[in-house]
Amino acid sequence: MDERVTLRSHLDQVSARSPNVFAIAEVIEAIAAASIELGDLIADGPMAGITGRLGAVNSAGDQQKDIDLAADGMMRRALRAAPVAAIFSEESELPEVINSGAPLCVAIDPLDGSANLENNISVGTIFSIRPCGSDVLSTFFEPGTAQCAAGFVVYGPQTTLVLALNNSVDTFILDRRNREFLLTARGVKIAPNTPEFAINASNRRHWHGPVRAYIDDCLAGTAGNGEADFNMRWIGSLVAETLRILIRGGVFLYPADARPGYREGRLRLIYEAHPMALIMEWAGGAATTGRRRILELAARTPHQRVPLIMGSMRGVGDVAAIHEGTEPMFDNSDAPLFARRGLFR
Ligand code: F6P
Ligand code: MN
Repeated sequence: MDERVTLRSHLDQVSARSPNVFAIAEVIEAIAAASIELGDLIADGPMAGITGRLGAVNSAGDQQKDIDLAADGMMRRALRAAPVAAIFSEESELPEVINSGAPLCVAIDPLDGSANLENNISVGTIFSIRPCGSDVLSTFFEPGTAQCAAGFVVYGPQTTLVLALNNSVDTFILDRRNREFLLTARGVKIAPNTPEFAINASNRRHWHGPVRAYIDDCLAGTAGNGEADFNMRWIGSLVAETLRILIRGGVFLYPADARPGYREGRLRLIYEAHPMALIMEWAGGAATTGRRRILELAARTPHQRVPLIMGSMRGVGDVAAIHEGTEPMFDNSDAPLFARRGLFR
């Protein structure tokens, strides 16, 4: 980090080159400012009255904690002051119109992975920005290719912001003393072939054939199709796994499986898989269900789940190849029901 480039000056530079980025930059700054406050709250935890107590189950089917609701409130307040027509948060049942004349729509997971917090494991905020369509709420049900920017913040040993904007993925680190994000890497590119996989292997008995075959191949090491001795990681925190892929490559899988409630995978399309897929592709990686390119899928329901396999080109390509010619596990899972068009190509 030789030159000191703040997030604000980076956004100014990008907006000067592409004036259509102005409003997007305002939204990013609003989310970044709220994430600095949220990072403080997470770090203070019990000292700030965060009990970690469970509340209701949210519409997406996850247990809500007090910190989830606090994070949701912080992000909403920030977005209300930005040029945002509608917000769709993991914590609410439906998207909400806040200012129909504004140019952008934002889908957000205010605090992903909050189940990890008691263990002091990294959590994050994920966001996806789209130009607002003529019917505001339908914007969220367009394919992921409609996104104009996306990103996530990791609250970990450092607070990192990953931003996909104008076809580039750039990373920032929070300078805690000056309370501003500083650019750490421009135009991040994912290593094309890193022999490392991430999957919740405790679900092996519930997986379907192609996923089992791919992981067995990885475990076979140099004797397998991957022709390498694979390493494995599973943090159980999507933002931390995605950052690792950006830094050193590898493949992440959360496939559909036979458990009740997992027939379309676990992760949600609009505010988890779509933004991560945009980041992957703009960083030279890929994201698929195994059969379909994630960015070409459109959600049928607000909290639509989707199998997500993402990361280095080689790993994702191998997973897609192993699916070819196989039948989908369930009629409603990784079948192309909600794809508008196109294969993983
Ligand atoms: O949003 C869900 C999430 O917490 C992700 O951050 C993470 O990838 C996943 O769930 C972990 O799932 P599991 O409980 O199967 O390890
Ligand atoms: Mn989440």
